[in-house]
Amino acid sequence: MAQKIKAIIFDLDGVIVDTAVFHYLAWKKLANTMGFDLTEAQNEQLKGISRMESLDILLKIGNKGSLSTAEKQQLATSKNKWYRENILKMTPKDILPGVMEFLETLKNADYKMAIGSSSKNAGTILERIGLSKNAGTILERIGLENYFDAVVDGTKISRSKPDPEVFLKGAQELNIPPEQCLVFEDAESGIEAAKNAGMKTIGVGKPENLPKADKVIPGFQNVNISIIENS
Ligand code: G6P
Ligand code: MG
Repeated sequence: MAQKIKAIIFDLDGVIVDTAVFHYLAWKKLANTMGFDLTEAQNEQLKGISRMESLDILLKIGNKGSLSTAEKQQLATSKNKWYRENILKMTPKDILPGVMEFLETLKNADYKMAIGSSSKNAGTILERIGLSKNAGTILERIGLENYFDAVVDGTKISRSKPDPEVFLKGAQELNIPPEQCLVFEDAESGIEAAKNAGMKTIGVGKPENLPKADKVIPGFQNVNISIIENS
């Protein structure tokens, strides 16, 4: 019999907030400075993948042969600088539609919740949008309680999605077995990571981009808790 879901793990970029577009714009800008373009379709390959691995994929797309580690480091630093210019402007208003209501519903239903992100900027984003454990002052100011029992991000993992490490660590920190966890993800690499961890998956986005997800929703507006109960 299927195990009852007890914990929900959320990817951050593209699920809680629309930072996926900021990543895309920064990578595209970097590609343009090197004389090539990055299309939205090509960008799907970069979603959920760590910064340096994303850079390697980008360089392959642009046929940019072997660069030194120092040159690559410099390119990644530029990309991150442009990306951070956008995330530092974020406020709680940037939380995607329906997300807060859904978190509230899950909290009231006693589900454990975690963030599972490959990003090293996750802490900054969670602080900006008022969902960080460490953002006491912001949380007090906007009157939000803390929803997440654990945050596993790019600073805590050594292997990025599709490796299951980020989600297995999340389950461990929540103290819930992987088969009782469900993951919301906007990246195919993230869906694969969750599956590799033995978890149920719900894709957030377009079904054609997330063929391996158990289910796909376009976003959290009007999403009913039954989507989890029936998983
Ligand atoms: C997330 C995003 C990726 C990004 C990765 C690393 O998984 O979906 O697009 O490359 O985090 O993010 P960072 O903020 O550390 O560069
Ligand atoms: Mg994502």
